[in-house]
Amino acid sequence: MIEEQHFYGDTGGKIANRIPKYYKDALRATLEHLKPTTCLEIGTHCFGSAQIFQDYFNDNPKPENCLITCDIFLWGGTKPEEQKNVEYLQVYPHFHDKYMFEHSTKMLPDWQEKFVDSVKINTRMIKTICKNQIDFAFIDADHRAICLSQDLEICKLLNIKNILLEDVSKYELVHESSQYYHEVIKRSEVYKCYDFDNWSVETNCALLERI
Ligand SMILES: C[S@@+](CC[C@H](N)C(=O)[O-])C[C@H]1O[C@@H](n2cnc3c(N)ncnc32)[C@H](O)[C@@H]1O
Repeated sequence: MIEEQHFYGDTGGKIANRIPKYYKDALRATLEHLKPTTCLEIGTHCFGSAQIFQDYFNDNPKPENCLITCDIFLWGGTKPEEQKNVEYLQVYPHFHDKYMFEHSTKMLPDWQEKFVDSVKINTRMIKTICKNQIDFAFIDADHRAICLSQDLEICKLLNIKNILLEDVSKYELVHESSQYYHEVIKRSEVYKCYDFDNWSVETNCALLERI
């Protein structure tokens, strides 16, 4: 159980268009609870959540502190200079859609051949730039069930025990990631699951511990 703590407050995002979501607080509180040093983030977007890792590293300085953050392309330009413990890696998507075809020039050039093997290839690329055992992963990427399951497979291949998922609120079961979490992951005997149910606010997150 992780104690409720408010570092960032309401992120502005809403669950089911009405409930404020506190995923940044859940991420920071999880980092403070688990105290990882080598971390992985799947889903960089504009380095917003990467900054939470950097804030945590700044407050808990250790030479090994490192976040590998990966995305299929960079939305917001380059990595902010102050994120000195953060390394960006461009990876392959697990699936394809119209959006990817329209933004093909920003993706890895051979993505249309490689996405079928994305789990194996992305895992290998992460291992190449990170020689240490990864202690913790934050998955906030493509919220389709198939993609979430592929990201979990990457974490399994990397032997990562603690994983925080975003976009799994029980109030938003229209999202495939929520459905997949509540109907498949929670019912499986692979993970011990914690839903932040002791918190007075909605985090939209779940912490998995691989048994
Ligand atoms: C919700 S955003 C991430 C937000 C970010 N974590 C934050 O809180 O600031 C989801 C991101 O996942 C990326 N994405 C989609 N498929 C991916 C994949 N297979 N691997 C890594 N990132 C992926 C998208 O391009 C998008 O930038």
